[in-house]
Amino acid sequence: MSAEGLSNLLHEERRFPPSEEFAAGAVAQSTLYDDAASDRRGFWGRQARDLVHWDTEFGEILDWSDPPFAKWFVGGRLNVAYNCVDRHVEAGHGERVAIHWEGEPGDSRAITYAELQRLVCRAANALTDLGVTTGDRVAIYLPMIPEAVIAMLACARLGAPHSVVFGGFSSEALRSRIEDAQAKVVVTADGGYRRGKASALKPAVDEAVGRSTSVEHVLVVRRTGQDVEWTNGRDVWWDDALGKASTEHAYEPQDAEATLYILYTSGTTGNPKGIQHTSGGYLVQCAYTHKYVFDLRPERDVFWCTADVGWVTGHSYLVYGPLANGATQVMYEGTPDTPHRGRWWEICQKYGVTILYTAPTAIRTFMKWGEDEVARFDLSTLRLLGSVGEPINPEAWVWYRRVVGGDRTPVVDTWWQTETGAIMISPLPGITAAKPGSAMTPLPGICADVVDDSGEPVPNGSGGFLVLTQPWPGMLRTLWGDDERFLDTYWSRFPGRYFAGDGAKKDDDGDLWLLGRVDDVMNVSGHRISTTEVESALVSHPKVAEAAVVGASDPTTGQGIVAFVILRGSAEEGEDTARELRDHVTQAIGAIAKPRQIMVVAELPKTRSGKIMRRLLQDVAENRELGDVTTLTDSTVMDLIREGMSGGSAADEA
Ligand code: WT7
Repeated sequence: MSAEGLSNLLHEERRFPPSEEFAAGAVAQSTLYDDAASDRRGFWGRQARDLVHWDTEFGEILDWSDPPFAKWFVGGRLNVAYNCVDRHVEAGHGERVAIHWEGEPGDSRAITYAELQRLVCRAANALTDLGVTTGDRVAIYLPMIPEAVIAMLACARLGAPHSVVFGGFSSEALRSRIEDAQAKVVVTADGGYRRGKASALKPAVDEAVGRSTSVEHVLVVRRTGQDVEWTNGRDVWWDDALGKASTEHAYEPQDAEATLYILYTSGTTGNPKGIQHTSGGYLVQCAYTHKYVFDLRPERDVFWCTADVGWVTGHSYLVYGPLANGATQVMYEGTPDTPHRGRWWEICQKYGVTILYTAPTAIRTFMKWGEDEVARFDLSTLRLLGSVGEPINPEAWVWYRRVVGGDRTPVVDTWWQTETGAIMISPLPGITAAKPGSAMTPLPGICADVVDDSGEPVPNGSGGFLVLTQPWPGMLRTLWGDDERFLDTYWSRFPGRYFAGDGAKKDDDGDLWLLGRVDDVMNVSGHRISTTEVESALVSHPKVAEAAVVGASDPTTGQGIVAFVILRGSAEEGEDTARELRDHVTQAIGAIAKPRQIMVVAELPKTRSGKIMRRLLQDVAENRELGDVTTLTDSTVMDLIREGMSGGSAADEA
């Protein structure tokens, strides 16, 4: 049956209850909901004691005396790296594999908890030798190799906040993040493997660090063996530094509220926001959600989260959640179609993956490639599937369950954000009868609602804005160095509540359906990119006078970036203009922000006050009937743009 036919058969009310067998053995019990509802703070206190080792017991569970600046597990002291590594070795699980790493060219490494402990200690000692102490920031710009996890944990061990920058970001994006956080050390590699080729990383670091006043050392992992430029005194090989370092390291417990990391994400204005996460609350929520949402049994599960460590999903479900829970997991360096389109399924078969966590954009890509690519492999070990990053359309949900999950696995659609630190809204496997396309209900301990423009909760059957109505342990504490922007972005729209920036609907049963961003943030393949960021990149090109960017719906990537640009008077529109501008955006931000389509136009639709009406451009980009044009200064502008679009003068991606 076609995806469309299937989708027509589906009704929102269709439910997938857990099998009796799954429910009987499930980790989560429905009493969790009641426990949390009757005493939310006490509930989190119990999770904190149950899931995390504290060197010093915390006193108050939550200090909310100065909202929205929260303090969780007040006075408690812990070490995040100890919790993720050493305590499992002490508990006798040293021989358990922590990471089954699979390189794209086919090389692999299995790292046990005992080995991870030695590596993290060596790395912590090496960073100390390079002058890193508690509170210093360390930038990490690495491919998907175990050293990324080791470097993050080494930072955590020292109480030195890390700032991981996705390896696909440009040197300019890296530079601005190093600058904002004033990083002292950058950990990088010569390069990594992607799409069958070795790509370079070190040149981008050299460029970014060249003008930096804060960076003292660059620690370089040798992954591909390619030649690199070397700055004596500044650059240090990872292997040399770790080789000299001891495998033992005595950790210092950190305050529960000590910053664990900064992770930059796109907002509605040009410069990315440094989301700041703490040690105690964040770790508790990562461990809690990883255990219950994924029904984890660490002694027998093989968990695979396909996200890159450069995104929050990689932080919470490739590093802190699974390792805090002592899980065995898979980490894969490359792309799903290298060297063939069954690579992921081959990996699932090879390691006996039991829990898979990925994004709708990947699922839709696999749907396009066809089920035969999946059917060639034995996926019978899979028992739970997760989705994250964007709304999952019901056809993709059902396909995922049927083709990948053999029609037996529960599927959990998990809603959260970089800011929330960990999963917030999701079914609980074994308990919830899930509806395909719905993230269902807030997890026990989490309070969310959907409100209208004036902040009133909407009744069932209506839509509005998603808000979080109570503080939660993994919440961001502020934006790095910018409390004002923190207050303004999240807490001013609906006072007393956290504004997530997402539209949502409550269905007749009160279950939640996420509908995508309501601000100028696009979601391309589950990656957050702001329209303003891409516009700034475009207007920084000498040929561009003005630019407007919209996210147009895309069958595979969720949204695709469509740019409308006005060239400067002197600039000629050549055949290569679009390619030139696209390359320019790649240079400024990274390939993920490259517009799918660039339209050269004579004018942009503006209101009388000069505001660009993106809504109308989006109508054009999505080939829809135009909305209300009466507020435009000149309504013929839209006719011209539309003609240009259909006339094919648009510079489409070749
Ligand atoms: C935005 C956050 C959280 C990990 C990856 C993205 C969208 C995320 C879902 C979901 C509908 C979702 C939202 C959110 N989003 N998960 N299950 N259903 N939308 O993190 O880059 O901080 O992006 O991703 O729009 O606000 P992020």
